[in-house]
Amino acid sequence: MIDQYAERWAFITGASSGIGAEFARVLAARGMHLFLTARRRERLEALASELHTRHGTRCEIVTADLTDPDAPRRLVEEVAARGIDVELLVNNAGFGFVGTIEETDIQRMRDIIQVNVTALTEFTYRLLPPMLQRRHGAVINVASLAAFQPVAYMPVYASTKAYVLHFSEALWAECRDRGVTVTALCPGTTRTEFFEVAGVPNWLKKHSAQTPQQVVKAALKAMERRKQFVVPGWRNYLITLGSRIARRREVVLQSMRFFRPPAERK
Ligand SMILES: NC(=O)c1ccc[n+]([C@@H]2O[C@H](COP(=O)([O-])OP(=O)(O)OC[C@H]3O[C@@H](n4cnc5c(N)ncnc54)[C@H](OP(=O)(O)O)[C@@H]3O)[C@@H](O)[C@H]2O)c1
Repeated sequence: MIDQYAERWAFITGASSGIGAEFARVLAARGMHLFLTARRRERLEALASELHTRHGTRCEIVTADLTDPDAPRRLVEEVAARGIDVELLVNNAGFGFVGTIEETDIQRMRDIIQVNVTALTEFTYRLLPPMLQRRHGAVINVASLAAFQPVAYMPVYASTKAYVLHFSEALWAECRDRGVTVTALCPGTTRTEFFEVAGVPNWLKKHSAQTPQQVVKAALKAMERRKQFVVPGWRNYLITLGSRIARRREVVLQSMRFFRPPAERK
């Protein structure tokens, strides 16, 4: 199925690092052209130049801060102005915060919800209708293992990802007989800049992690199989089964032990 995507366009948010940059690399290698967005222009330009040299990829770059409520509209208008039909939307941009109630900054929580939930929702509803009209296309929404349960010390982030999972599964059902597939990607700990941004820079030293390569490979395979969600890695999948079977009280208390805030984690 992916061959059908050659010479078509993918729109990737959060393409300047981690999982988003890996989506760009893999899709470029498979012949797609890319519309890339994030805040850090130099990172996007370096990636675009690498992919153009390696694969002849056409990359369009538009920087935007997705905490700005108007950014999704402006970006989709840019896409239209450049005459691009988006075949694959990868809603990947996102960030989190780990900490206690007292450490939590309300503006930061607003920003997490704006980027992880509101912008993702708007991109999806703006870019899905033309795909449905063509009866061809795909959406990958990056959720998380945290989507399957409440998580103490990162309640806002985990709740945004629960939203992404439910939202994507519902749209998967609506779109499946209309030629378009929607997949929620639910990675566990992955080796990216995520933990630095979330305020727990030592996290990756203490926990096993998948690579962005493993995560993106699983995501594209799931998209090709038209699955509504995918959890990369069997250990991670077992965790989701555990959290569905165990008592909710135990699940959230276990998360409290796992995600102890930085001050208690020495
Ligand atoms: N790493 C993990 O363990 C893990 C696990 C489960 C799910 N995820 C999810 O995977 C996705 C990708 O994260 P990652 O792990 O690859 O982390 P990352 O390396 O920190 O990448 C995050 C990307 O999102 C972009 N972004 C963040 N805030 C933004 C904003 N306000 N406006 C525009 N773009 C913004 C960043 O670009 P700029 O900074 O250049 O704007 C960057 O490209 C996220 O949705 C994350 O929640 C990660």
